[in-house]
Amino acid sequence: MAAQAQRLTKPPKTRQKAWSALASHYKKVSKLHLQQLFADDPKRGERLAVEAVGFYLDYSKNRVTDETLRLLLQLAEESGLRARIDAMFRGEKINITEKRAVLHVALRAPRGTSIVVDGKNVVPEVHAVLDRMADFSNRVRSGEWTGHTGKRIRNVINVGIGGSDLGPVMAYEALKHYSDRAMTFRFVSNIDGTDFAEAVRDLDPSETLFIISSKTFTTLETMTNAHTAREWSLAGLGGDEKSVAKHFVAVSTNTAEVTKFGIDTANMFEFWDWVGGRYSMDSAIGLSTMVAIGPENFQAMLNGFHQMDEHFRTAPFRQNLPVLLGLLGIWYNDFFGAQTVAVLPYEQYLKRFPAYLQQLTMESNGKHVTLDGKKVRHDTGPIYWGEPGTNGQHSFYQLIHQGTRLIPCDFIAFSKPLNPLGRHHDMLIANVCAQTEALAFGKTPAQVEAEGTPKWLVPHRVFEGNRPSNTILADELTPETLGKLVAMYEHAVFSQGAIWNIDSFDQWGVELGKVLAQRIIPELESKTEPQLLHDSSTNSLIRYYRNSRQS
Ligand code: F6P
Repeated sequence: MAAQAQRLTKPPKTRQKAWSALASHYKKVSKLHLQQLFADDPKRGERLAVEAVGFYLDYSKNRVTDETLRLLLQLAEESGLRARIDAMFRGEKINITEKRAVLHVALRAPRGTSIVVDGKNVVPEVHAVLDRMADFSNRVRSGEWTGHTGKRIRNVINVGIGGSDLGPVMAYEALKHYSDRAMTFRFVSNIDGTDFAEAVRDLDPSETLFIISSKTFTTLETMTNAHTAREWSLAGLGGDEKSVAKHFVAVSTNTAEVTKFGIDTANMFEFWDWVGGRYSMDSAIGLSTMVAIGPENFQAMLNGFHQMDEHFRTAPFRQNLPVLLGLLGIWYNDFFGAQTVAVLPYEQYLKRFPAYLQQLTMESNGKHVTLDGKKVRHDTGPIYWGEPGTNGQHSFYQLIHQGTRLIPCDFIAFSKPLNPLGRHHDMLIANVCAQTEALAFGKTPAQVEAEGTPKWLVPHRVFEGNRPSNTILADELTPETLGKLVAMYEHAVFSQGAIWNIDSFDQWGVELGKVLAQRIIPELESKTEPQLLHDSSTNSLIRYYRNSRQS
């Protein structure tokens, strides 16, 4: 297999030692085949596995030796990962470009514990909001909260985008099994009017509640959709402004903007600037999740998050699930030059998990400068993508097995099915085992020939193998397990960001496009063509759109 060429692999200055050692080590081991590594150590599959907080991580099918792991762990130590973890949990302002603490761990801290930000213990506030969310959810679920006409609420629509959408939609899909099936939950995010139109086309406004979820309450997409929702709701309810209080609630950090929109702050659920958008599904942003699955299940999810937080905070790096996943990711990203990671959940309910992870990983670690503003000397966040198994097998796995690119894969599976149907689950899990086995060990020309394959066909049917994967197994997809799974990836992303010495908690890269769009909107909407001062390509696109829209 053509291993990827190395690109940006100069060591960050402060981490020179372990990074350089890994670079030399890579030259020695990069050609080693997993067949050989397993043949040399019959116990490898048992040795390179960790069982913790109800998860079993098999990382033996990675292209690592004991020395690789030793050096990666040394890299973590030399990078000051331990100090960074402690700083995050202490509430230090580690999001330096926005001067904010990064405390999603406080969102799941048990009642009675203490995490201090700017001299204030934030845990009581977290629980006060959780209590209000629980009260509201119970009232909606029981039918006590009625709409303007007195009918009970049967439909809940979350309006948000990015972290204010991807977490809620992923969690709703993941935990649908636990949701109230008498209710309908939908999610509107795109500014494309189709998203809204399709979400409401078969719904009765008198039975529909909108949750407007936006940390800033200024995001173009969300505010546009929220205003459209308000018009749709009012139109269906006879235009009585009083109906808004019964059909709209808000989740935000921005009280002033919520009030301006016309939502009573009594119906506002707050969170705080120390919760990043992509780390907010367990804050009030999870209100739709709580209405869907009920407060007890939501609390179980928070318990799962917290268990993984404690594991991350206290377990030695050698047994630390997020740290190991983060380090293995760095090994492929920065030494093998792998550009992507495939996330392959063998659980239909996790169908939106890869999309959720894309924001979590890529908005966090898609950074080109270090904390001190210098250009990074190594590649940072890889591209995350994936689909639930076994669908991916009949689509893109061909490239993973026989293509020319190295694609590390995370397989995620559960021992117990939520919908036991005949032999389905055994067949599903057989596919997980088969895929990781095929990726690692492949099929040699001799094996292909021994099957009587004509010589000319042999190369086409050879599997070179040596394709790395992690397998993550848990008992069953419950709210608690989902919390653990999300927290595991959150902390893996954190670990990588600490080692790359970048700010994993800002997202300046999304700003420029937003600003330019604001400039272009009036240019598209004005009656006569305005003076266009963009480049010739953008000017032509604007003219083409204006002309074809009118024709
Ligand atoms: O895409 C940029 C971003 O700021 C995300 O980080 C955030 O999750 C999303 O926009 C939505 O922001 P808000 O919740 O403020 O509407």
